[in-house]
Amino acid sequence: MSNNDLTNVILAAGKGTRLKSSLAKVLHRAGGRTLVEHIVRACGPLKGRETVVVVGHQAEQVAAIVEPLEAVTVLQHPQNGTGHAMLVAKRSLGRAKLAVVLPGDAPLVRTETLKALVTAHRNGNAAATILSAVLADPSGYGRVVRKSETAVSAIVEESQLTDEQRDINEINSAIYCFTLEKLWPALAHVKPNNKHRELYLTDAIAVLSAKGETVLAQVAADSREVLGCNTRADLADVDRIFREWKRNALMDAGVTIQLPETVLIDPDVTVGEDTIIEPTVQLLGKTKIGARCTIRTGSVLTDAILGDEVTVEAHCVVAESRLDDGVIIGPFARLRPNNHLKAGARIGNFVELKKSTIGEGAKAMHLSYLGDAKIGTKSNIGAGTITCNYDGFNKYPTSIGNKVFIGSDTALVAPVRVGDGAYIAAGSTITENVPADGLGIARGRQVNKPGWAAKKRRELAAAEKPKRTSKRKPRRTSKKRK
Ligand code: UD1
Ligand code: MG
Repeated sequence: MSNNDLTNVILAAGKGTRLKSSLAKVLHRAGGRTLVEHIVRACGPLKGRETVVVVGHQAEQVAAIVEPLEAVTVLQHPQNGTGHAMLVAKRSLGRAKLAVVLPGDAPLVRTETLKALVTAHRNGNAAATILSAVLADPSGYGRVVRKSETAVSAIVEESQLTDEQRDINEINSAIYCFTLEKLWPALAHVKPNNKHRELYLTDAIAVLSAKGETVLAQVAADSREVLGCNTRADLADVDRIFREWKRNALMDAGVTIQLPETVLIDPDVTVGEDTIIEPTVQLLGKTKIGARCTIRTGSVLTDAILGDEVTVEAHCVVAESRLDDGVIIGPFARLRPNNHLKAGARIGNFVELKKSTIGEGAKAMHLSYLGDAKIGTKSNIGAGTITCNYDGFNKYPTSIGNKVFIGSDTALVAPVRVGDGAYIAAGSTITENVPADGLGIARGRQVNKPGWAAKKRRELAAAEKPKRTSKRKPRRTSKKRK
């Protein structure tokens, strides 16, 4: 289908008073993206002439999101209603004959649904085609009033419903296809006859219908697609649906997700076949996970790249890091940004990494901080090893070669290098480079004092011997006994 006679118009200027927020409504997030971004993305594949976004509240922030997606913006100020927003967009519509108009707060709509709407509009030779939906609870939405099975006579807003109309459960999604040469004269007849004194785009429907123009309503196959976000509860509902769709897509592609409703996955995340995702995991940002991995409960991965057969044990936090094939981390590991864990590396509990490379098969299993460190192949980092990478002014690197053994409780004061095959004695504070195959030992010498503790105990016992105390008679109370 060629749509070079069509422009998309997204109405995104409103404040969203019902959200009670300092952030404009369309900048709120659901399903891992701002509302407006979802809608621009849904319009893109329609291949219309352009996507025009009407901005108003926090216009600059909205423009910063939509312009990189190749949408253009037009400013509506003040915001006098959806009909007024459409009039503001008029000058940006060029020679388009048709417009697909969408609100900025109904982000679940899919491209396929929009395509079907345009097809129905063209086939019906209509002036307006409304995407409607049948909802069990239509409250809050404008209702579609039909004059016949196929033709619509009006959209009536919730605040203006008569008692009989209140029972209508076909609602207006606020997504329409309009033939513009019919819309403009109809909009010119619309008056701000409502308590907000706004020009409602919905009122143009009754004008068109009264003129004898064809107004159709196409019922969405999946009514969830048209849900609007006017309140925080709506945002939560919409987010839940996005997350469910994403999990279902991954499960269809061969990923196991346990207790799926507890797992949160952002839209750009990819996961390979036979990977197992345990309950309460979060996979965020541009995380990419290979095949046959296990991501155990409570772990949160943001912009992480995992190879195949990686295990993330329970309760790990990973950001902007690369974990090659067969790596195992956790439980309770924290990877701050810019780490590269090479194949087969192991990071254990309560280990924090930042900007570090861990060589193939290298291990840091317990209670360590490794920052700005480069650790070679098959080296072993003992429990409690700390890189002292910061002197209060600058950060410095630590370089550890291949097959190095770092004893427990070592402090590596950077900048410092430990050569291949070297040993560091436990409890050392290493301030100088250690040569390859050497031993670095930097700790106070031990002194044993035989009998010292026993003598001390005798002295203490003598000092604490109880003194003799005289038995005192209980004091008489002044009150006479009765
Ligand atoms: C609107 C429809 C209602 C429909 C519902 C579906 C109208 C009058 N009502 O109601 O029939 O059932 O959507 O979700 O259209 N906007 C502007 N400029 C303005 C006012 C609004 O750009 O001056 C934008 C808002 O940012 C929003 C969209 O238009 O993205 C819809 O506005 P909203 O206030 O959410 O309308 P609803 O009350 O939801
Ligand atoms: Mg709305």
